[in-house]
This record gives sequence, C-alpha cells and structure tokens, in this order.
Amino acid sequence: MQDIYILGSGAMGYLWASYFNNNAKLHFITRNQTAESFEFKKRPSLQTISATKTQPAQLSQNHSKIRFLIVCTKAFDAEKAVISIENNLANDCQILLIQNGMGSQQAIAKRYPSLSIYACSSTEGVFKESDNILVHAGQGENHIGPLTPAAKQNTLTTWLPPSIYTWHENISPILWRKLVINSAINPLTVIYQCQNGKLLSRPAAHSHMKSLCLELDALCDRLNLNLAPTINLVESICQSTANNYSSMYQDHKHMRPTEIRYITGYVIEECKKLGIECPAHEHVAAQIVS
Ligand code: PAF
Repeated sequence: MQDIYILGSGAMGYLWASYFNNNAKLHFITRNQTAESFEFKKRPSLQTISATKTQPAQLSQNHSKIRFLIVCTKAFDAEKAVISIENNLANDCQILLIQNGMGSQQAIAKRYPSLSIYACSSTEGVFKESDNILVHAGQGENHIGPLTPAAKQNTLTTWLPPSIYTWHENISPILWRKLVINSAINPLTVIYQCQNGKLLSRPAAHSHMKSLCLELDALCDRLNLNLAPTINLVESICQSTANNYSSMYQDHKHMRPTEIRYITGYVIEECKKLGIECPAHEHVAAQIVS
C-alpha cells in the first residue's frame, strides 16, 4: 500500500483522505500531536477512514522519504508547512496543493522546481463537526493541473484515484476563475457581515461588487482570460451559494487569519504589474485583517 502524507487536518485534509477509501496508508502531519492511529467518519455516507498523526520530527525517525504529499492547509501556512518537512521529501516527490486564492501555490512551485507539483481548485463543500466527524455538505468538483514541468497526468494517476478529479493541461484559467469569484464575494461578506446571496439584495453591497468587478474585467482582459463581464459570473455564484457564509466570513467570525493576501492581495499585485488602477480592491484590502 502506498503511504500518502497530508499536511493540514482541517475539513479539506479529511476529505482528501476519504478519497483513498482506505486503499492507502494515510498519515496526517501535525504540529502538536504525537504519532497515533485514529479514525473519523464521513457523513452522510458513514464511511470510516483510518489514519495516523505524525509530527514533522518523527518523520525522519520512523518513515521512509515522502513520495506523495497533499497540502490542505490555508494559503498563508502552505509554504512554511512544506519547508518544515522538506528534508523528508523524496527526489521524485509529487505534491498536490489545495489552496484558495493564488500566490502560495506558485511560491512552492518556484521553491521546488524539480518536483512534480500540481494545483487543485476545488468546489467541494465540507466541514468538520468534530475531530471524528467530517460532513460532506456540498458535492463539488476538483480540477487539477501541473505547476512544474515534471508534473504529468500519468504520474498523478499512479496514486490519486482518477474518478475524483478532472485534469487540465493548463490550470491557470481555472485558478483565475476561482480567484475572480473569491475576490468579488469573500471580502464583501466580511464587510457587510452577510451570506453570499445577501450581497445581491443589499444595494450598497451590490454596487460595491460592481466596482470590484469592473477592475477585475480590466485585469481579465489584459490577461486574455475570457471572463468579462465578471459581474455575470459573480452574481450567478452568489445565487447558487445564496445561503453560504463564505470561507473568509467564517475565518473572520472565528477570529482566524484570513486569506485576503492571497485573494484581493494577489489581484492588486497583478494589477500593479500591468499598470491597472484598482482602488476598490485596495480599499477592500485595507479593511480586512490578514
Ligand atoms: O470561499 C468560498 O466560500 C467559496 O469559494 C464561495 C464560492 C465564495 C462560496 O462561499
């Protein structure tokens, strides 16, 4: 059986572990837990998943080098989490990155250019009810593509169940589409303290969204991304997720750091590189704690 390592034991980490259906040895790498076996259940299927928890320091003692790694941490933790175990990575290690926003995945690909690094954009909806219960609340899709030259579809199929993702030779437009959605929705749900759907029914929030989308249109046009007018895409996502509280709203509510630097911050950086004015995004970035 293959050893699969997972960084990040939040809901996304649990979900990715569940995809292997116990056909692999699953190891969560955690900062503060000693090695121990544990189980969790996934609802509504009631599948039981068994795994171990291992600290980075124990990796060199009891494990051979890591060949398959899935990084499910928040964007701001991803690079330092990989660095913390870099001495344990095999020369042919394959790393799958499941972060929101953009910037963290590219930084990891730049740091380890000879490894096979993939990015995933996921629309799966999950939350942890407790440390032993994962709730798969919304069936979504996973889109995966390469970030380094060594990352190939046929190497990924040697360990990742092909039924759980769609492969894209060019993942960039998919990551950009999600970034556009997240930058026009997530910070506004924090500023207006509401669910995604309410951003359409509250006039102030809706006109704020339109100003963000005009800046996103200019950026998408310059990057030749066929997404403008982005307001249509953003409004349709607000409708289909009307009752959701965005991930940024939830982070803010629980006083956790937010991913604003990897969402709005990335848009601002790209606009600056291309000489595009983006005062609405700059104003939003200044209002949200990172
Ligand atoms: O980040 C999120 O919460 C989601 O990507 C989205 C689409 C905004 C729905 O809540």
